[in-house]
Amino acid sequence: MLEGKNVVLGVCGSIAAYKSALLVRLLVKAGANVQVVMTPDATNFITPLTLATLSKNPVFSDYFVAETGEWHNHVELGLWGDLMVIAPASANTIAKMATGLVDNLLTAVYLSAKCPVYFAPAMDLDMWKHPATTANIETLQSFGNIMIAPGTGELASGLHGEGRMAEPEDIIAFLSADIKKKLPLVNTKVLVTAGPTYEAIDPVRFIGNHSSGKMGFAIADELARLGADVVLISGPSAQVSKQRAVKRIDVTTAAEMLEACQQHYTGAKVCVMSAAVADYAPVTIAPQKIKKQDGGLTIETRKTTDILKFMGDNKQDGQLLVGFALETNNEEQNAIDKLQRKNLDFIVLNSLGDAGAGFKTDTNKITIIDRDLQKTTFGLKSKEDVATDICAKIAALLKK
Ligand code: CTP
Repeated sequence: MLEGKNVVLGVCGSIAAYKSALLVRLLVKAGANVQVVMTPDATNFITPLTLATLSKNPVFSDYFVAETGEWHNHVELGLWGDLMVIAPASANTIAKMATGLVDNLLTAVYLSAKCPVYFAPAMDLDMWKHPATTANIETLQSFGNIMIAPGTGELASGLHGEGRMAEPEDIIAFLSADIKKKLPLVNTKVLVTAGPTYEAIDPVRFIGNHSSGKMGFAIADELARLGADVVLISGPSAQVSKQRAVKRIDVTTAAEMLEACQQHYTGAKVCVMSAAVADYAPVTIAPQKIKKQDGGLTIETRKTTDILKFMGDNKQDGQLLVGFALETNNEEQNAIDKLQRKNLDFIVLNSLGDAGAGFKTDTNKITIIDRDLQKTTFGLKSKEDVATDICAKIAALLKK
């Protein structure tokens, strides 16, 4: 959930600042870009050098760097963040946040931040219990800020009780769960097919096609980014999923792809079939390499099962089915035929006639045609951006 996210990590003056090193490490490990902003007091508890090294970014604690004349723009930092996490959040900083008091870079960034703000209090038991702290926290929550509650245990003062900052692992788990629950496709199982299939002729040769799998992998990644539980069934492809949450199943033939799809079809709310499945497979696979002979070679083939049609014929109520049509001529009519014949909710048409569209390229140019034959044509875009358009359409249909 934190992959690729820009995280502003605010660190306050509290003994719990020693845990910030691990928190930075875990955020970076989870794929986040981390910008640490420390209060001046925090630098007494943990060195900026430690946090800069772990975050791979310089740490900011002042508006100005006197030596270089550099200016740390709090507004830009506030806008850069996809989320802001203040951990540890001291009683003092919490009070400033609650009253809008800006006397350091961290509180200025907080006031400028438009993203969700999380804070993990850390303080002594009596400070935590004080009605002023309780009131300040209620104020922050009324602003929409989200508290990562402190734990109970031995405190730096020697007292025992509430006030310990949540453990870094728990903060990461909290953030991931909170981000996930707000995503539009959370708890939605989706099935995506990608890549070509290879139908063996003999141990050396096969019938295949030029599909790289790029489009299907980009769709699987985008669906995972939107919170879906993605099963990606891929034919032979050199692509790698960017989203760790994508569950990849490798297959080679159309028959294997069909079997994997049948296994995962039940319970799948959305199926996006972007694979270029071979329509024909050799009737028999020669056990040994076929040797060259005089004259030509004829290979007898049989039709493979149309996986998408199988899904369309067995579609359950509420299930959303998306197909692709890669055409060279009579594009729209062919796509509409497929949409209707295979009982799809919408079809993504791309034409080999469009420069930069289709197999192997990093770009694509699509037209989406839905059940009502409403057409939306998009410009030439990266396959990632095309995936965003397709998944936005899916999310919009699911909302209806
Ligand atoms: N498809 C499938 N199984 C097949 C063939 C196609 O699931 N055996 C799916 C593709 O993944 C795609 C859609 O059907 O989403 C259209 O595939 P395409 O190859 O363009 O169309 P076909 O139905 O095979 O028709 P034709 O080859 O005649 O264009």
